[in-house]
Amino acid sequence: MTSPEKPSLAGNEVSLWIARVDECFEAMPEEEWLALLPEEERAVCLRARVDSVRQERTLARVLIRRGLSHFAARPPGWWRFTENEFGRPLVQNGTGLTFNASHSRGLVVCAFGRGREVGVDTESHERSVPEWEGLGRFLSPTEQAYLSKVPPEQYSRTFFRFWTLKEAYAKARGVGLSIGFDAFSIDLGPRPDVPPERPLLLDDRTTTRWHLHELSVPPHHLVGLAVEEIEPNESVSVLTRRIKECP
Ligand SMILES: CC(C)(COP(=O)(O)OP(=O)(O)OC[C@H]1O[C@@H](n2cnc3c(N)ncnc32)[C@H](O)[C@@H]1OP(=O)(O)O)[C@@H](O)C(=O)NCCC(=O)NCCS
Repeated sequence: MTSPEKPSLAGNEVSLWIARVDECFEAMPEEEWLALLPEEERAVCLRARVDSVRQERTLARVLIRRGLSHFAARPPGWWRFTENEFGRPLVQNGTGLTFNASHSRGLVVCAFGRGREVGVDTESHERSVPEWEGLGRFLSPTEQAYLSKVPPEQYSRTFFRFWTLKEAYAKARGVGLSIGFDAFSIDLGPRPDVPPERPLLLDDRTTTRWHLHELSVPPHHLVGLAVEEIEPNESVSVLTRRIKECP
């Protein structure tokens, strides 16, 4: 599914930057990462009351700027962002580059595309799964039926495969929770222990088609990625870059 990144980004490529907070902050202390941000973004990070959230937000914001600059001849401080009505950050000053970021439990992931929407989500599959009675808020009836049949040792991982892919799709659409997570399905294929080459999105409310990809980041993170399809039956390559220091 993935291959190593190169310093350009074609229209049929998506770059996924993956960074662990502990590794990055070991290479350079948090204050120095914070100092790379414009004042208003630094203030947003410093408002986080939980240390881990502040750290993840800081790293994500630096990587978004550095990533965009990596693929366009602009310095990291050049980028201006706006938000849609659901709070989705978007590049304001053009170039055709798109991005989305996610962070959880010490991992930060940023996806970059050109001329197409991208959405990304990461979660730890060691988190607790919602009670069975509450699953209807997250999964469609088809997904719940699939989950009810997986062996106990794959239950949590399968739930979080659904979750990361669904949230990546909601984030690519930019609509957050208003999408109704029970109103569309992901087809994970016939065997939960063998991920299909590409999971499928089943959402009859949209005519846009989406490529879905998934990735494991050991020891316990899953990453879901949704990429807008521009040309019918095109193939999109996902290029991954592991970040361990300030890029
Ligand atoms: C955007 C949202 C959908 C994701 O939130 P999350 O999983 O808590 O957080 P993530 O780390 O994946 O993503 C957060 C980042 O996405 C971006 N983002 C914010 N709103 C967004 C939106 N509407 N669309 C796309 N991206 C958005 C921001 O860069 C944000 O970073 P920040 O928190 O540092 O500002 C959030 O609105 C939410 O409410 N999630 C609820 C989770 C849930 O119940 N999911 C059920 C899935 S089965």
